[in-house]
Amino acid sequence: MTDTDFALLQSQLAALLRDESDALANAANFVALLYNALDDVNWLGMYVLRDNELVLGPFQGLPACVRIELGHGVCGMAAASGKTLRVPDVHAFPGHIACDPASRSELVVPLVIDGRLAGVLDIDSPSLDRFTERDQANVEALCADYCDLVAGTAFI
Ligand code: SME
Repeated sequence: MTDTDFALLQSQLAALLRDESDALANAANFVALLYNALDDVNWLGMYVLRDNELVLGPFQGLPACVRIELGHGVCGMAAASGKTLRVPDVHAFPGHIACDPASRSELVVPLVIDGRLAGVLDIDSPSLDRFTERDQANVEALCADYCDLVAGTAFI
């Protein structure tokens, strides 16, 4: 597996988003950029907070479950707590929601835009323990950049 060049990704993200104010286009480009830059990932996308539940947003990968209640699954628990969840083995995570049966490890980062929870970024890998602490810190930083870049635009 090659090491991801997160500094390059950061500048590519800014270049893609800084002159565009359409929230849907920006969300779609964010997930496409990350999906294609990260090795060993089978699903990457957003769940958006709508009426107090998570609803599937832009993603890359197989079709996925559309609605997730807050507090349910890895995504719902990350959203409810406002904290990143890095799960080395999804089969050992109580309540994990299996959308793509190939997924074995998962990283979910809450997205906070204009001070409010807007949803989560969810990344699945077919490998056990795919995501390192470094990956987590760098993906969190990219999510923070994304949230800054889209602040002030309606989310989806
Ligand atoms: N595994 C997630 C559900 C979403 S899919 O992985 C695309 C969860 O437990 O919340």
